[in-house]
Amino acid sequence: MALQVVILAAGLGQRMRSSLPKVLHLLAGKPLLAHILETAQALQPQQIHVVYGHGGEQLKAQFAHYPIHWVEQRQQLGTGHALQQALPHLAEQDQVLSLYGDVPLLSLHTLQQLLQQTPKHGLGLVTAQAPNPYGLGRMVRGAQGQVLAIVEERDATPEQRQLTEIYSGILTTSVHHLQQWLPQLQANNAQNEYYITAIIPLAVQASCPITTVTAADFSEVQGVNDRAQLIQLERIYQRQMAERLLQQGVTVMDPTRFDARCAVLDIATDVTIDVNVILEGNIHIGSGTTIGPNCYLRDVHIGSNVTIKANTIIEEASIAAHATIGPFARIRPGTELAEAVNIGNFVELKNSQVATGSKINHLSYIGDTTVGKDVIIGAGTITCNYNGVLKQRTTIADEAFIGSGTQLIAPVTIGVAATIGAGSTITSDAPAQALTLSRVKQRTISHWQRPQPRDKIANASTTVEE
Ligand code: UD1
Ligand code: CA
Repeated sequence: MALQVVILAAGLGQRMRSSLPKVLHLLAGKPLLAHILETAQALQPQQIHVVYGHGGEQLKAQFAHYPIHWVEQRQQLGTGHALQQALPHLAEQDQVLSLYGDVPLLSLHTLQQLLQQTPKHGLGLVTAQAPNPYGLGRMVRGAQGQVLAIVEERDATPEQRQLTEIYSGILTTSVHHLQQWLPQLQANNAQNEYYITAIIPLAVQASCPITTVTAADFSEVQGVNDRAQLIQLERIYQRQMAERLLQQGVTVMDPTRFDARCAVLDIATDVTIDVNVILEGNIHIGSGTTIGPNCYLRDVHIGSNVTIKANTIIEEASIAAHATIGPFARIRPGTELAEAVNIGNFVELKNSQVATGSKINHLSYIGDTTVGKDVIIGAGTITCNYNGVLKQRTTIADEAFIGSGTQLIAPVTIGVAATIGAGSTITSDAPAQALTLSRVKQRTISHWQRPQPRDKIANASTTVEE
């Protein structure tokens, strides 16, 4: 019996009030559909079928790298009708696991339990205890606890509305059963839809054993219908992520102010992450490193015992052990910092390689530059790397000292242990060991008058000298 996963994702998602199909909205930086897809993939099914209705082109483009069989549901006539669209693509002896595209936090464990506990030729349902079951299908059980039906909010009696056990929308059964039951569905309910839940009485009639698995937590089965629910699940997800990190030996100072939107989140022990840090993409952080408050890190490799101070932004860069960065530093793509490099406040680095022990501590822009070992770059140094057409490189050799307020007009090379006098504009190569400077001679004009404001000049005759 091969496992076939069908993910229903054709609903309009009207309550999102968006031009984007609902399942493309992001949770933790990833489309809703990707969350459930990846969970389903872990079950190693024979095939994953996604039933879509709107934005087919957008969906297919975004998920081009996933092995998905796309099934179109032209008209959204209900969940039962949606599942029926997949039937012609399934073999009678296959097992179906039917999921929703807008339920991102469902755990692999719950699905594994469902598949294990549902007998062959049975029907398995995932249920949950809902703190507020409003709007959800209620599990109606008999005296022995046997499942009799699922009633939707709008079709429920006041007594049934009191029930707190809800249906998650997740079920498993054989293709054979679905072939029998789905064509019998009728849209004779409050919404005039073909409800998948209407197969329950048919299963009961056919004496098909019905198993239920209760999700450990309601959030697991919570669907996203509007943006408020999306954000609610986002916070739950982030909280879970922060707590997982805490268990792994990472200090997350405040789990309610932590955001990881990562494909890879690889953080070693004894790392401390202060509040309001946002991590995106592929993140690798070595042990003992501290990340100060309000930092944004995307696609970074950070070594051990690195100190990243408050309000620092690092994107597509690698930083070796014992470096100190920030506060208020901006490390842009292509930057590689070697061990024990110091980057201070209001320093912007782009596509530059800085070797061991070098310091760029204040107010500088270093772009397209190779910086050697133990170089000191004074405050306000700017590499003029762009002439409006070309980006050109600057090379600063080991142990060079660049005086404050220097402009290095690329392409230019500063030799080993060269010193550049403060305030220089360097347009050609500076030799090793020597002092190079370009400065106009200082002069003083002693009887110089400051320009006077206009009104002062106009009133000059009437004002009394102070
Ligand atoms: C459904 C269940 C309800 C359950 C709840 C859990 C039915 C009739 N009701 O209600 O018992 O408690 O989920 O969240 O099944 N979809 C399609 N095509 C359609 C209609 C829906 O693909 O024609 C997809 C949607 O994209 C969505 C899923 O099916 O992913 C659920 O549809 P939705 O309309 O949200 O069902 P609910 O009313 O929430
Ligand atoms: Ca729903």
